[in-house]
Amino acid sequence: MDDLALYIHWPFCLSKCPYCDFNSHVRERIPQARMVAALRRELAYEAARIGPRRLTSIFFGGGTPSLLDPENVAALIGDAVAMFMPAEDLEITLEANPTSIEAGRFAGYAQAGVNRVSIGVQSFDEAALRFLGREHSAGQAVAAIELARGIFPRISFDLIYARPEQSLAAWRAELDMALRLAADHLSLYQLTIEPGTKFHTLHARGEFVLPDEDLAAALYDATGEVAGRFGLHAYEISNYSVPGGESRHNLAYWRYQDYAGIGPGAHGRLSLDGRLMATSRHRAPEAWGALVEQGGSGATHEDEVGALDRGREALLMGLRLSEGVSFSRFLARTGGRLEDAVDAAVLRDCLAAGYLEVTQTHLLATAEGRKRLDALLPALVR
Ligand SMILES: C[S@@+](CC[C@H](N)C(=O)[O-])C[C@H]1O[C@@H](n2cnc3c(N)ncnc32)[C@H](O)[C@@H]1O
Ligand code: SF4
Repeated sequence: MDDLALYIHWPFCLSKCPYCDFNSHVRERIPQARMVAALRRELAYEAARIGPRRLTSIFFGGGTPSLLDPENVAALIGDAVAMFMPAEDLEITLEANPTSIEAGRFAGYAQAGVNRVSIGVQSFDEAALRFLGREHSAGQAVAAIELARGIFPRISFDLIYARPEQSLAAWRAELDMALRLAADHLSLYQLTIEPGTKFHTLHARGEFVLPDEDLAAALYDATGEVAGRFGLHAYEISNYSVPGGESRHNLAYWRYQDYAGIGPGAHGRLSLDGRLMATSRHRAPEAWGALVEQGGSGATHEDEVGALDRGREALLMGLRLSEGVSFSRFLARTGGRLEDAVDAAVLRDCLAAGYLEVTQTHLLATAEGRKRLDALLPALVR
């Protein structure tokens, strides 16, 4: 019986950040009761067909799940642990924004069973926060982290770097300050310009420029070095943790294990009756809600993932991890040999260049290889 990770999507935010292309929506009034009822119904629908599984993690992602009332988080957790078999060390993460209103709910979330928060700090620099369109100050972010530290056993926060005009020295200083706040996990993302966002338009008009390739690479190297000095290792391209502090939920994605996705726009990969299914949901909250109210699920379509795609997905996800892709897990999940899923000549070149490495048990991208992964993967993976 496969372990299960559960993702619950909360699709609302107070405002839309100009860089963000996540499935997040701003509403004058958030229909919380209706949406939570639909989430609970969709969870029951999925649980009924998935059957009993060991539940290893629950992740409330968004959007901004810290806009949810703690009672509703408690109800969803209660449903999930009643419908599945919770692991003894079940990890329950909730993404939170650091405005004071949301931080005020932290104790309620802990009471509901949340044992890990991931706080969207983005920057400790006031001008950068304004540029990123954030609703909170650096002081509020520090206060939210300190509050969370006293309440939750595990905390993480997100920062965005490689911002316009950000110098190497300024990023080193910002990161050093961040690491002194003692989280067991950090997600450190380089700013990317996503189609359909406000930044996409501004960037295309030349209203700001991003660091060039050399500076971006230097910023990435500095990130690993400074995090390493504080005992956090890069276990994934953008994720750093103390040993044992890795996000179990995200590891389930990258190790290409089963996960169920509930809520608008959520994806899932589920083994059902010996087949691996890719599930997806309607992205618009109200339309998703109406589908659930009609038939129990907001699914738009569901396709079997064929052997070739299973191999491809397992490699694309797994090579992001410093541990790489396990040969035995790959075989069990895809039914094929890892050697057959990659281009032999490209593999040879990447091994010779020091971008990839083969151990007894794994194929992995080295630190240099992980920097170039986006360029390498299309050639490597068949
Ligand atoms: C779903 S959002 C997070 C949670 C929460 N809504 C918040 O903003 O605090 C996940 C994270 O992705 C990162 N992110 C989103 N869009 C990005 C972009 N274009 N470039 C870099 N990082 C991005 C941000 O750090 C953000 O916190
Ligand atoms: S970054 Fe977070 S708060 Fe901003 S729009 Fe995206 S999901 Fe919402």
